[in-house]
Amino acid sequence: MPEGTRNPGAKAEEERGLTALLNDLAALEALAENWPTEQRNAAAARAEAVDALNAAAFRRLIRALKAVPEFSEALRAAAADEVVYAVLRRHGILKPSLFERVEAALDAIRPMLAGHGGGVELVAVEPPVAEVRFLGACDGCPASALTFYGGVKQAIQDRVPEIREVKQVKGLDGGGSESVRFSSPFADYLEGDWAAAALLEDLPEGETRILEVEGRSVLLSRFGARVTCFENACAHMGMAMDGGEIEAGLITCPYHGFRYSLESGECLTAPEVQLQPHGVRVVGQRIEVRLTR
Ligand code: FES
Repeated sequence: MPEGTRNPGAKAEEERGLTALLNDLAALEALAENWPTEQRNAAAARAEAVDALNAAAFRRLIRALKAVPEFSEALRAAAADEVVYAVLRRHGILKPSLFERVEAALDAIRPMLAGHGGGVELVAVEPPVAEVRFLGACDGCPASALTFYGGVKQAIQDRVPEIREVKQVKGLDGGGSESVRFSSPFADYLEGDWAAAALLEDLPEGETRILEVEGRSVLLSRFGARVTCFENACAHMGMAMDGGEIEAGLITCPYHGFRYSLESGECLTAPEVQLQPHGVRVVGQRIEVRLTR
């Protein structure tokens, strides 16, 4: 019977039954925690054997139904039900969803973000696009653009090739956390070598230089003890911004006027885009850059 045509009373009764079943399972698992090892192992082995039997039956049933074209669509629809999905996933019959795979990719880099007091959450997956949001210290951090390109984006695209675009949506608290720091946790995660870009004495405080590093044109700027580096490519149409006005830490693209902060890479004209950042370190007097892809 289609979900929408079911008796609401029967549906509520079924929900109550499921909740009671889940509570029973949790209570039994808690009870077994205190059993002697031998009994616990025996109970676990029995549960595994029952699971294996159920999985074999599900596989046979699904194989038989898939052979009938009109049932294939119904099977797909049934798998969208959260209980059906959870049970079939548990038995390894359904492959992980795209959402789960992107989550798994983020799990791989969450410990690094957590080490810096931050985090990332998956907001939406709509192939070929995934949307993520930075949390805690990463949200609003001037280095979050580098974190985004060097870590999160690469982790997702390496593990889930169906996702070809990763977008960063604005954080919840607007940033400004005291624990913000500029060294991105991913400065060392980026591939490639550090390349000498300039000497500190050639980049006075508050100034910006347009330089070529390993064949790429970059914008190198100095703000106090900090140096930033961004790809010299406007996020609007990818044009190099040579000749654009640079004033008070902002660059204006000479083509259509998009304005960017040279400190954070943020775009003031269209906040949903930003300059592509590169890793920077200062070794003695030498400014070195590690290019992102
Ligand atoms: S290319 Fe820079 S604003 Fe259009």
